Order: sequence, then C-alpha cells, then structure tokens
Amino acid sequence: MTRLGETLRAYQARDPAARSRLEIFLLYPGVHATLYHRLAHFLYRHHMKFLARLVSQWSRFWTGIEIHPGAKIGRRLVIDHGMGIVIGETAEVGDDCLIYHGVTLGGTGKDQGKRHPTIGNNVLISTGAKVLGPFKVGDNSRIAANAVVLSEVPPDATAVGIPAQIVKIAGHSTHYADEVDQTSVKNPTLERIAALSDRVEALEKLLDTKFTEKKTAGAVPAQSPEQEKS
Ligand SMILES: CC(C)(COP(=O)(O)OP(=O)(O)OC[C@H]1O[C@@H](n2cnc3c(N)ncnc32)[C@H](O)[C@@H]1OP(=O)(O)O)[C@@H](O)C(=O)NCCC(=O)NCCS
Repeated sequence: MTRLGETLRAYQARDPAARSRLEIFLLYPGVHATLYHRLAHFLYRHHMKFLARLVSQWSRFWTGIEIHPGAKIGRRLVIDHGMGIVIGETAEVGDDCLIYHGVTLGGTGKDQGKRHPTIGNNVLISTGAKVLGPFKVGDNSRIAANAVVLSEVPPDATAVGIPAQIVKIAGHSTHYADEVDQTSVKNPTLERIAALSDRVEALEKLLDTKFTEKKTAGAVPAQSPEQEKS
C-alpha cells in the first residue's frame, strides 16, 4: 500500500493534468500496468512463468503497456499515457523514472542473457524513444523524444537523435565542434605542400653550392646544369 501511495503521489507531482489520487488510481493505465507487473513479477520469481505471462498479457491488452514479468521495476515509476510501451525481460528500471508512450526498452537481437538496458534513477525516457541493448543509462539522464539509444549514457546526460548522441552533460553542451577556434585551424594539405616546397628550395641551394665548388675547382664546364640541358 505504501508503494501504491508513493506512486500515486509521483503521478500527481509529474503530471500537471492529474487532479486527484483517486482519479489517478482509477483511470491511469500506467498505475494499472505497474500493479499488474508486481503480481506478474512475483509469479515469475516463484517459477509460475505461464501464469506470470498470462497476467502480463492481460495487462498489455488492458493498458497497451507490455512489461515482461522478468523485468525489474523500481519505485515510483510514472508511465504517462502508456500506449505502445515495451519493457523487455532483462530490463531494469531504477527509482523515480518517467516513461512516456511509445518507449521500448529492448534488445538488438545480438545479445544473449542480459539483452535489455539498465535504467538508473530519476531518468526521463521521452515519447517514442528506443533504448536497445544491455548497457546502462546513468542517473538523472534524459532521453529525447524519438531517440534511438544504442550505447551507454552517462549520468546527468541528455541523449538525442538516431543513433543517439550525448548533447548535454549536467546542463553543459557537448557540441565540441562549436568550441574549436575556427580561425586558427590549420590545413594539413597546405602545410605538407609548404614543407615539400622548403625541401626543394634547400636541395636547389645545395646543388648550386656543389656546382659552384666544382666550377671553381675547374672540374665542370662554365655552364650550369640547367644551361647545359637547354
Ligand atoms: C530531451 C528533452 C527532454 C530536453 O532535454 P534538455 O536536457 O533540456 O535538452 P535541451 O532542450 O537543452 O536540448 C539540447 C539539444 O537537443 C536538441 N533536442 C532536444 N530534443 C530533441 C529531440 N527530441 N530530437 C532531436 N533533437 C532534440 C535541442 O534542439 C538542443 O539542440 P541545440 O543544442 O543544437 O540547440 C526534450 O527536448 C524532449 O525530448 N522532451 C520530450 C518529452 C516528452 O516525451 N513529452 C511528451 C509529452 S506527451
């Protein structure tokens, strides 16, 4: 009952449209899915896998939220709207997370055993986001709407896009390219051409010196090598 009470309070705190706890309890599919999952997870842990699956499928039919009975769900999870959510068997979700409709915590099909992500505490997973694979999403992170996250997300980060990139950590932008001093960037091709030009110049000077030395010694005709060619 304590867990239900704190979950209802979490919905009230996170959803500005929520009016009363009674309304949340009676009408919010996220609350129903969480309650069904607690029963399904209990049955799963006690090796009643068929019954566990039955409860989870009933919950899916009723709420549009499919949480595998094996998934570990933390306290005060808020699932807003709810339709089209899939949470895989080896997924773990920490405390105080907020998940919107259309989210998948799934596998890529490439892993055995632990195949689904481990979500930290106080993580926001926005609408339509897919988090795929057995990696961690750090505490207090935000996964943007429609992002496809394929690798670990550090704590306090914002992950955006397909495949998701970390665009912010602890409120600071990680757009490293913007921080580069564009006016002092050197062109490596021009630098190489300049180095080759310096070498050619040095070789020409050396050749001239040798030629002058030999001419002085009378070992070569009076014409320079270039003059001889022409
Ligand atoms: C990601 C999100 C939570 C904002 O997090 P934040 O840490 O405050 O990040 P910011 O808003 O500062 O955005 C950081 C950058 O990511 C970009 N960005 C944000 N959300 C994005 C998205 N879904 N897809 C692509 N880029 C996105 C921003 O444009 C910004 O880019 P810039 O630095 O080049 O300007 C928010 O944008 C979001 O996706 N919310 C969805 C919530 C939701 O599901 N609501 C459904 C209610 S029904």
